[in-house]
Amino acid sequence: MYVVGGSANGMLAKELAKSLKARLAKVETKRFPDDECYVRIDEDLDGEDVFLVQTGWPDRNIIELFLLQDAIREFEISSLTTVVPYFGYARQDKQFKPGEPISARAIARLIQLQTDEFMTVDVHAVSIIDWFDNVSAKNVCAYPEIGKFLRAKGVQVILSPDEGRWENAKRVADVAGCDADFLVKERLDGKHVAIVDDIISTGGTIIKAAEQLKIQGAKKIVAACTHGVFANNALDRIRLAVDEIYSTDTIENPTTAITVAPQIARIARD
Ligand code: R5P
Repeated sequence: MYVVGGSANGMLAKELAKSLKARLAKVETKRFPDDECYVRIDEDLDGEDVFLVQTGWPDRNIIELFLLQDAIREFEISSLTTVVPYFGYARQDKQFKPGEPISARAIARLIQLQTDEFMTVDVHAVSIIDWFDNVSAKNVCAYPEIGKFLRAKGVQVILSPDEGRWENAKRVADVAGCDADFLVKERLDGKHVAIVDDIISTGGTIIKAAEQLKIQGAKKIVAACTHGVFANNALDRIRLAVDEIYSTDTIENPTTAITVAPQIARIARD
């Protein structure tokens, strides 16, 4: 068994190879002067079960993903599982106005052309999984790993920024061994609080939540998410609003501290 890591997910590919007891493939990736992508897998993958790990954001990583799938398919492999830890375009999961694409479906259709199985992590809209109608597709939950991490940090309360995402906070809290709630105007005097979300992009949601928690008397505020997108230097602004910030390795960034590899491996073995 081999894990092939795209250039966006070196850390996760290495961790996943460990969790699956698989070999990590040597992969060369580079960009030509005109920015076109080049990939080459420097292994013999004939007869192997292969896991490809490459995040589906930003656009350049999606192109690399398709090229890696194609390169893997050139071998006589036994099976290919494509793991897209952060599924970009998931927020355009329907037509909001006439004339728009259903972007998440467009990406799903292309990915499934060249894979036997598909896995992603905490996809923004779980209904996206249904668009993988020709291959087995699974959504892996990172929240148990976030919960373990926050338990070690001594967090006392886990909060979701809104009621709609409360169940995610509950999954984290179940493992962290503390209470979960959504942002409510109750006193949190002296409490060590974590706000948990699936994605942090502009940081607007987290910053607003942190301001509210300070008013409620929280002593220490930690932000944690599965996917640290941090658009437009959001990280600098968020760091002013919270004491600590952590994310998983679905997107490698300076706040990455939690690996989702054990959860991917667990679901892969099911
Ligand atoms: C919303 O539905 C999501 O769960 C996140 O709360 C949202 O994507 C965060 O975005 P931002 O960081 O731009 O507020």
